[in-house]
Amino acid sequence: MFLGFYLNLNGLCLVPAVKLSGSEVINLGHKSTAWEPLMHISANLSSVSSITSHFEFRTLDPEGIVFYGDTKEGRDWFVLSLRDGIPEVQIGKANVLVSVKGGPKLNDGVWHHLELRSEGKYVVVEINNKVELVVGMESDQTDDVLTGKIRLALGGMLVDQKRLMHRFDPEMDACIRAGSWLNLSALWDTESNWKPSQCFPEIKKGSYFPGSGLVLFNTSDLPGVETEERGVTIEVFGSWHGTLLSLQSLDFQYLLPSDKEKENRALSVELKEESGSSDTADSTKLTLTLLRHSLLVNGDTELQNENIDFLSRWTEGMSLAFGGVPGEPKDSPSVHRLQGCLETILIQGQDIDLDQAFFKHTSISSHSCPAKAVNELTES
Ligand SMILES: *[C@@H]1O[C@H](CO)[C@@H](O)[C@H](O)[C@H]1NC(C)=O
Ligand SMILES: *[C@@H]1O[C@H](CO)[C@@H](O)[C@H](O)[C@H]1NC(C)=O
Ligand SMILES: *[C@@H]1O[C@H](CO)[C@@H](O)[C@H](O)[C@H]1NC(C)=O
Repeated sequence: MFLGFYLNLNGLCLVPAVKLSGSEVINLGHKSTAWEPLMHISANLSSVSSITSHFEFRTLDPEGIVFYGDTKEGRDWFVLSLRDGIPEVQIGKANVLVSVKGGPKLNDGVWHHLELRSEGKYVVVEINNKVELVVGMESDQTDDVLTGKIRLALGGMLVDQKRLMHRFDPEMDACIRAGSWLNLSALWDTESNWKPSQCFPEIKKGSYFPGSGLVLFNTSDLPGVETEERGVTIEVFGSWHGTLLSLQSLDFQYLLPSDKEKENRALSVELKEESGSSDTADSTKLTLTLLRHSLLVNGDTELQNENIDFLSRWTEGMSLAFGGVPGEPKDSPSVHRLQGCLETILIQGQDIDLDQAFFKHTSISSHSCPAKAVNELTES
């Protein structure tokens, strides 16, 4: 990694600009914006020796943006993304939009080798040395003279996402390594406030909270009440300590675990702290049930209030946070901060994707947890 310093126009302060080699291990997650690329580079087409890019890619995330390229200042563009774990290519060129999806599911948590190349009127995608997608395009408006600049970007796009033919959720919890991009040797420019994030050596399914932030949902965006007697069920599997979740509306706040639970340790949610190990055997399941006037934890009534209608609140929309309490000062002692791996979150039986939240702290890995040695990685 290389640090360059650019003089600000007023000459009074130095703004650090991080430059990065495209062949490093790059974590595409943890961005502060959804569509802005993590890093980008541009080159003169005349100096490009090979219209081929290849890299290794690892994810458990089913959907998100991987790689973007364009020419003519973005008038012709190319995007590689995943949808349902399967690679999808979209191309915009001379007022034609193309979208092609195919090949194996890549979101299995192991490294895959990807190669993309341009062969005349075709774009070819190879996965693990096997041609999986060939996209051909021809129009009497396209000119094949390659002049001007080519731009590449990772983890985002350089043109408006509204130009996509098939929209997707851009956030991608993935790592890239051993990249070779058009055989360019120049360094890439990174997002202005970019901070490098590590890639865990091995990953497993889940959402990892390192203890520095939360995810916020509006319950009106989540699966709704089906029957009054069954209410709303939130099930969480994983191993963690700290505040798992909190529910908040204008007139009440509920934390799980509550202080009462912490005292009598009725819940084995602090297993990890005690055992100091992170084996999956430590996994806990916790169920919160909302009924009309009560909240149940693992079937036991935890809170009862005849003045609050929890089910209407759920439908109207209250805040549901995983990993802490909204509004807590950022640097307050992190008594409430969740640390650990939430392997699965089910609401009304449906899998909840943290990428769908209306706020997610950049420290959270929405689709991957370290497979080993959580304590070593997070305790310092
Ligand atoms: C690209 O070409 C222009 C002139 O056409 C030149 O000024 C510029 O330095 C070149 N950039 C690179 C990265 O080679
Ligand atoms: C890539 O660039 C290196 C020099 O930077 C050159 O030796 C090599 O031939 C190039 N490879 C291709 C495929 O163009
Ligand atoms: C949740 O969304 C609903 C509908 O858009 C809105 O009325 C409500 O105020 C929101 N609640 C919160 C806590 O943001």
